[in-house]
Amino acid sequence: GKGNYRHFMEKELHEHPAVLGDTLRQYLDPGTLEVRLPRLPFDPAKVPRLTLTACGSAFLAAHVGRYWIEKLARIPCDADVASELRYRDPPLPEGGAAILVSQSGETADTMAALKLLKEGGQKVLSIVNVPESTMARSSDAALLTVAGPEVGVASTKAFTAQLAVLACLAVGFGRARKQISQVDEGRLTQALLSVPSFAAEILDRDAEIRALAAEVAKARDVLFLGRGSLFPIALEGALKLKEISYIHAEGYAAGEMKHGPIALIDSAVPVIALCPSGPLFEKTCSNLQEAAARGGRVMAFTDAQGAPALRRFAEHVIELPTVGAFSAPILHAIPVQLLAYHVAVLKGTDVDQPRNLAKSVTVE
Ligand code: F6R
Repeated sequence: GKGNYRHFMEKELHEHPAVLGDTLRQYLDPGTLEVRLPRLPFDPAKVPRLTLTACGSAFLAAHVGRYWIEKLARIPCDADVASELRYRDPPLPEGGAAILVSQSGETADTMAALKLLKEGGQKVLSIVNVPESTMARSSDAALLTVAGPEVGVASTKAFTAQLAVLACLAVGFGRARKQISQVDEGRLTQALLSVPSFAAEILDRDAEIRALAAEVAKARDVLFLGRGSLFPIALEGALKLKEISYIHAEGYAAGEMKHGPIALIDSAVPVIALCPSGPLFEKTCSNLQEAAARGGRVMAFTDAQGAPALRRFAEHVIELPTVGAFSAPILHAIPVQLLAYHVAVLKGTDVDQPRNLAKSVTVE
């Protein structure tokens, strides 16, 4: 049941800390601060290329996975939605491998991609939430997210659990390829082990996010911006808002705004930015200033170090804990999902069962 929550989605959002803890404990050792992966169907030290594919939010998790794996392990990665990968007839390398991501393990497009990848000689590793699903059984190996049943049609806790598994894989691959040292591994696993408590802290900002939602609920169009590994999270924010509140939203790489979408900006369009401090902050901040200069209403998620610069021109600044670049995508997914939830509640839509959508899409 829903317990004391109004919707399954609200309940599932509040399960983020527990689910992240349970999932991370499967793949890393808090004692030795090492990643602990089960036997994989390919050797990460030798694999020439990885194909990451999935649909919807699961694809956005795979998209973040590409940023992490390329950065930490230096393995060339290709990330594409399953319904495109299938028809693109991609050249698949000998000895290559694929990572598929799915909550249900039954998504028809992802299953069709699995078949194509296997026929192309790729070893298939899937990240799934339902252990007995078709995808888990048809893959060479399956890594489970420990998210428990997800009832709300919009994916929430399963998405962050997928990110947690991908983060562990990236660190494990980085070690296997000698791209990161044991000290780096310790630092990265430590960052991941802090994720559940940061997630709880972010959920405590509920009232602040609800206030932001009251503004967003009045909009007809919303723009989400992020750079680097936060770009897919901007896409996740836009997807979730569209799907449950029916407000038109777009996610963009922050640097792409000036190449077109800036034409949309006026005082009616909230620009929601994922902009934590770090090496990408300055550039993103100046993109946002350009939006503000055109009357755009900038609403930014940042941290203590980023807040002062943003407060000079942003309408709303939500200060999240300082989490570091590696775990930032996991922790920024939570406020954007929570924002979509509150907007949908204010709009009075059917949060758990949005129109035209099904929990598991079994047609291609
Ligand atoms: C978005 C959402 C969908 C699913 C997609 C894939 O909130 O829930 O986009 O992520 O349909 O489903 P699975 O993960 O079951 O393959």
